[in-house]
Amino acid sequence: MKILGIETSCDECSAAVVENGRTILSNEVATQIELHRPYDGVVPEIASRLHTEWISSVVQRSLDQAGVSLDEIDGIAVTNRPGLVGSLLVGLNFAKSLAYARNIPFVGVDHIRAHLYAPHLEQEIAYPFLGLLVSGGHTVISRVTGFDEIEVLGTTIDDAIGEAFDKVAKHYNMGFPGGVIVDRLSQKGDMHTYNFPDPSLHKGNHEFDVSYSGLKTAVINQSDQFYTGKGEKSLENIAASFQRAAVEILMKRIRKALTFTGLKRVVAGGGVAANSLLRSELKTLEGEVIFPSLKLCTDNGAMIAGIGYQYLQRGDRDAYSLQAFPRVQAFKRSYPML
Ligand code: KG4
Ligand code: ZN
Repeated sequence: MKILGIETSCDECSAAVVENGRTILSNEVATQIELHRPYDGVVPEIASRLHTEWISSVVQRSLDQAGVSLDEIDGIAVTNRPGLVGSLLVGLNFAKSLAYARNIPFVGVDHIRAHLYAPHLEQEIAYPFLGLLVSGGHTVISRVTGFDEIEVLGTTIDDAIGEAFDKVAKHYNMGFPGGVIVDRLSQKGDMHTYNFPDPSLHKGNHEFDVSYSGLKTAVINQSDQFYTGKGEKSLENIAASFQRAAVEILMKRIRKALTFTGLKRVVAGGGVAANSLLRSELKTLEGEVIFPSLKLCTDNGAMIAGIGYQYLQRGDRDAYSLQAFPRVQAFKRSYPML
């Protein structure tokens, strides 16, 4: 079964063809980064306009690259949440029109669930595992027992981890996109110049939750308070110290969650899973740690086609009335009592 996956939730216009939920035949990603760079952030209006201009050719390229014609596509999967609504609507309406014209099934996919599916495109992964979803909009530590069975153990109580990277980079004029730049600058910095705090709640139902807005504020407005007196107050040192704090906040909760659940496998996904420090820290954990290659960490159509296959395969179909939503589909939340 060959599924066409379409992803336009933010600033990547992407389409992919994936066979049987596993084999990537093509994964075209047209990034808008350069066009948003003058604004140091994604401008929603520009994003949706560019998707409208690009979507046809991106989809055509994904078919050409895969060496298949539309006749050979068995179903279409498209991100319909969460994301910028104007951007989502471009991909969603394109997918609906194509499905209608070809009389093939289509299904809307939750982008966050798709990020956790991405590593499955590169290797067989057995359930259950501890799922770590770290992106520009979400930070979720979960127990995953099936491709669509995700139980949240901890999440951010304010900003997402990727958002903190982006805001710190923006404040210090480090450049755009923030996460990659902070990661790069950190390589040249000393991560012990500042001792930034972990302002998260640690008690009761918040045992596995994280908080990034306090860290962000400390780095942006109060950095002097956390200066150790050693090393220069350079951008490289701020970046490295911030990155160390951001990763450690997460690692503490992951270690706790592994002990609590007894899970022996961690699977990471989302843009921040591309972070070099997070990747090296995760590798120090006992047990198996899996994260996708860099291209499958950030937004792409292959993960949409991959998980879309699983939905279509079990018989899920969406109606042409399907809408786009800015927010994530509700997760089951369990509050482990410790
Ligand atoms: O998954 P993604 O491409 O889009 C969303 O669904 O949000 O993630 C984008 C986020 C941005 O916040 C970006 O700054 C961050 O991932 N990011 C990184 C790195 N690469 C991307 N953060 C830290 N280190 C990186 N190397
Ligand atoms: Zn994403």
